[in-house]
Amino acid sequence: MKKLYIKTHGCQMNFYDSEKMVDLLKPLGYELHNDGDDADIIVLNTCHIREKAVEKTYSELGRIRDQANLRKEKTGKKTIIAVAGCVAQAEGDQIMKRSPWVDIVVGPQSYQNLPELISKVDPIEKNKLISIDFPVIPKFDQLKSKITQRGPSAFLTIQEGCDKFCSFCVVPYTRGSEYSRSIYSIIDEAKKLIDAGVKEITLLGQNVNAWSSKGKDGKVWRLGSLIKELAKINELQFIRYTTSHPLDMDLELIEAHRDIEKLMPYLHLPLQSGSDNILKLMNRKHKVDDYLKIIEKVRNYIPNIAISGDFIIGFPGETDKDHDATIKIIKEVKFSQAYSFKYSVRPGTPAAVFFNQVDEQIKSSRLQEVQNILREQQFEFNKKSINSVIKVLILKNGKKVNQYLGRSPQNQSVYFNHEKENLIGSIINVKVSEAFQNSISGSIV
Ligand code: SAH
Ligand code: SF4
Ligand code: F3S
Repeated sequence: MKKLYIKTHGCQMNFYDSEKMVDLLKPLGYELHNDGDDADIIVLNTCHIREKAVEKTYSELGRIRDQANLRKEKTGKKTIIAVAGCVAQAEGDQIMKRSPWVDIVVGPQSYQNLPELISKVDPIEKNKLISIDFPVIPKFDQLKSKITQRGPSAFLTIQEGCDKFCSFCVVPYTRGSEYSRSIYSIIDEAKKLIDAGVKEITLLGQNVNAWSSKGKDGKVWRLGSLIKELAKINELQFIRYTTSHPLDMDLELIEAHRDIEKLMPYLHLPLQSGSDNILKLMNRKHKVDDYLKIIEKVRNYIPNIAISGDFIIGFPGETDKDHDATIKIIKEVKFSQAYSFKYSVRPGTPAAVFFNQVDEQIKSSRLQEVQNILREQQFEFNKKSINSVIKVLILKNGKKVNQYLGRSPQNQSVYFNHEKENLIGSIINVKVSEAFQNSISGSIV
């Protein structure tokens, strides 16, 4: 077997793509390893969402070059270096210019071509291969390779791309326009995952609740119906989905939460800002009040649902008043957890040329304020679960001896100790006894 190493940055969709690359390359004799030493191929699957993520790509590429050079000196063998993902899509041949040791640049909509591209790499001559077109035949139709290996929990991309063009965001440019996979291909893949031993599936999409497709009955189905259909697969025990968009929330999805036990009580619904002025400049097309109404309705239907979100801090033009509005909303909603980021200028997006960019120091202090509150809220949320008994799928070992790790229904990390048999992949009841800022722990009951 030849040795494959994939380093993945960015969102869950990139992690899904990396798993698919493993499936694609297995028939060519490549086996996945946990490090790049002596690898025949190294794939760097990249993220373009913020400037820092892009910088990470180039520093990582420096390390990969050193690894490949060392191997060449020691064994005389060439390591094929491929850059995939959203930086590949956004920067294309610029990557080859900045890092001439890269052999292949392949975008998120064209990585199904990897086997062909690899076969064309010349081991002696430097030939550069770039594949970043948005193909006419959707990649999923070409990605039918066998599922090779998965853990107890797996990702399944059902929707990709975005047509919403928020003024700060690169996704519509790197992933292309919105596309929903057919019900049949989703169910087919879900069944294959189950056959590979998977018990939990997380449905993925840049705006996963924008998914829609023609159903068996000829009607247009939305995410709630799809989840109902997936829940019929017996061996599938837990269903999750991420990330949702406020404009695509509908009653069908909320009812699915109420009616389907396998659907976990967790909703990741980004708001981005608590100020209507900023939301308008962001081109979000919804107001703060719309968001609050959704949360109220969701909580009416599913009282124990955990609400998560995303916030961008220091968007151009954000005043102290706008920032205070964000703080107010966070306090009002009480998130179980949420992600917050300093606004990062993305070349080519509308907001990059807005005049009133916010000073870096102001962004930092506002971010700190937001994160302090969110951390406190998560801790409070976790404390409420003490003494409850939760059903947990065991995902892996923790860092300590005899320690196991899983996710709570409300998507918090759960730790507990167990000495005898190996529990990975089993579903057990845990009684929560301790709460921390970003995890809970307990013991088996
Ligand atoms: N489609 C989802 C989010 C996908 S991008 C939605 O619209 O809600 C994931 C998150 O990255 C976003 O929610 C946003 O909070 C953050 N993000 C995107 N572009 C950013 C930028 N230019 N600077 C900082 N954070 C950004
Ligand atoms: Fe980006 Fe907005 Fe699309 Fe989300 S909805 S992926 S933030 S453009
Ligand atoms: Fe990053 Fe691309 Fe995902 S930019 S967040 S890897 S869609």
